Amino acid sequence: MTTTAPRAVGRPLARIEGPAKVTGTARYAVEYPLEDVAYAWVVQSPVPRGTLTSVVVDPTAEADDVLAVLWHGNAPRLEQPDDPELAVLQSERISYRGQAVALVVARTLEAARRAAQVVRLEIDVEPHDALLREDHPELYTPEEVDPDSPAVTQTGDVEAAFAAAPVTVDVRYATPALHNNPMEPHATTALWTGGDLVLHDSNQHPPGVAAAVGAVFGLGAERVHVITEHVGGGFGSKGTARPNAVLAAMAARVADRPVRLALTRQAMFSMVGYRTPTLQRIRLAADRDGTLTAIDHQAVEQTSRIFEYAEQTTVVSRHMYASANRRTGHHLVRLDMPTPRWMRAPGEAPGSVGLECAMDELAAELGMDPIELRIRNEPRAEPESGVPFTSRNYLACLREGAQRFGWEGRDPRPRRRREGSWWIGTGVAGATYPSSVMPSVARVRREPDGAVEVSIAAADLGTGARTILTQIAADELRLPPERVRVRIGDSTLPRASVAGGSSGSASWGWAVTGACRELRDSGRDEATFDTTELVERQDTEGKHAYGAHFAEVRVDADSGEVRVSRLFGMYAAGRILNPRTARSQFIGGMTMGMGMALHEEGVLDPAMGEWVNHDFAGYHVPVHADVEWIDAAWLDEADDDLNPMGSKGIGEIGIVGSPAAIVNAVWHATGVRVRDLPVRLDKLL
Ligand code: MOS
Repeated sequence: MTTTAPRAVGRPLARIEGPAKVTGTARYAVEYPLEDVAYAWVVQSPVPRGTLTSVVVDPTAEADDVLAVLWHGNAPRLEQPDDPELAVLQSERISYRGQAVALVVARTLEAARRAAQVVRLEIDVEPHDALLREDHPELYTPEEVDPDSPAVTQTGDVEAAFAAAPVTVDVRYATPALHNNPMEPHATTALWTGGDLVLHDSNQHPPGVAAAVGAVFGLGAERVHVITEHVGGGFGSKGTARPNAVLAAMAARVADRPVRLALTRQAMFSMVGYRTPTLQRIRLAADRDGTLTAIDHQAVEQTSRIFEYAEQTTVVSRHMYASANRRTGHHLVRLDMPTPRWMRAPGEAPGSVGLECAMDELAAELGMDPIELRIRNEPRAEPESGVPFTSRNYLACLREGAQRFGWEGRDPRPRRRREGSWWIGTGVAGATYPSSVMPSVARVRREPDGAVEVSIAAADLGTGARTILTQIAADELRLPPERVRVRIGDSTLPRASVAGGSSGSASWGWAVTGACRELRDSGRDEATFDTTELVERQDTEGKHAYGAHFAEVRVDADSGEVRVSRLFGMYAAGRILNPRTARSQFIGGMTMGMGMALHEEGVLDPAMGEWVNHDFAGYHVPVHADVEWIDAAWLDEADDDLNPMGSKGIGEIGIVGSPAAIVNAVWHATGVRVRDLPVRLDKLL
């Protein structure tokens, strides 16, 4: 059955499921047709801290249609989960405003919502503390930051280097709470068949959700079937099972019928994680020629009362630039607030604001071009580990990007270019993200019609994962892509790693490559390949993707309004498997970076312990009109030390450094350093 076909990898194939999505035939988690389905609506705590003593159901609610009102007083008991956020309706404790405290199950969505609105909660309210501050008396230093790095590192003698340095920068940068807003909310349809559970669930990791939800119901993962055919975005917030999956399963058991639960946009601001606000202090010491002699980067951030999540904000400062002396650290406080969690490039995104803006400030102090300053501080090997980079090409991104963007001849002084009522400025910042792989298993089978079926329990968040796996398998088997059928999005398929950490394509692609090669070599009709041993033998250090972001902004001299006229990313991210989906990933990340720089901010009311702008009316995400020109390009980079495809992850690097490039451009336009994001017009006047 060997057919020769032109290579599919590297070609701009359109998404295989694209037609199904644009014609509305693709089904999302709560869209599967089912008989006799009920609907659940979450009742959220109106206070950030206290004890829920009782729940009184209003008799005027449409009682006939209401099937159950669950709360800790009557909800089925669950096993203790690893993630305390999944212990829903198990305790009288209220740990944050917006926490799920009751669940209404009804025959119609309207009845469920109406009953939820009139449910009366009796709560013994306690004083709370929701405000992150640098001098918080309960600040502590955790052991580790997520996923598994030490919270504190130190090399050399930082204080001696600062005392001796002719030029120093000592600045504080703050990034706000940011909220994941995928188009599809977190949503689940749950049904029990016998003692087994079926979940149509929107998530980034079907096997992980099966295991986590199974555990709380005392079931093995194999008794929970998670179907995740299409996902309308996740950005990290769907990386693990969220409370909606457990609540829907609980409701389906109690109501003895299938139950749909889709979180409202408003509920997503408290129930699915968010990016912690960060308060960063960054100090740089340098010689007059720009050689860094010390980097000290410390971050203060928050977690909740029920779970320690420590964002790895200053980890980026451990490997970006050379410096003989270096100190990085993270400090946390537990607040009466929802648990922060993953949001696209957790750590690198906020941390690169501190680092890359401080580098810009240092360049200005030195009167040096900010690209030249970065070139001066290029390390020979990964600074803290001493491990050589498998490939880096950061300087190539800066140089090639500068050329394409038109950097040459830029006057480094701020507030020099004016066109009509607009001040014009340009800025640059570096980007990086680790290139990681996780163990996965794939199965490949020849079908009677000559096609090949590839199976792996991966999830396609809309990124094009399904399409890329098709391309990889097609090339390995020398088939045209039309003859490869990829089955993903189902926990009963061979075990896949999470669609997160920019590791999906590399991890799953490796397993698919292995299975295809085995099929070819063995001549059999079916082959399965498990990468666990290969992945565990790999070094994790020295492997990163790099890039450089360039921004041009216009700032209205009278109103302070900022417009992004150009935003450009130049990347070195291994072999690009599909230029069309890759470009979308890059500019998607950059778009979120623009939101971080200029628009997005969870505004806290400390008195209520609440994000007051918890919807799209108040929480602004960037739209097409917010940027006049946006583009991404990449260098040809072959890195054979990573995986058989030579690919690096590209999902997150676009949000790393792009905010700093914009903030630096705003300074270049106006001469004003805005150090607390987002940059709003009132901060420029
Ligand atoms: Mo990403 S925040 O690792 O899904």
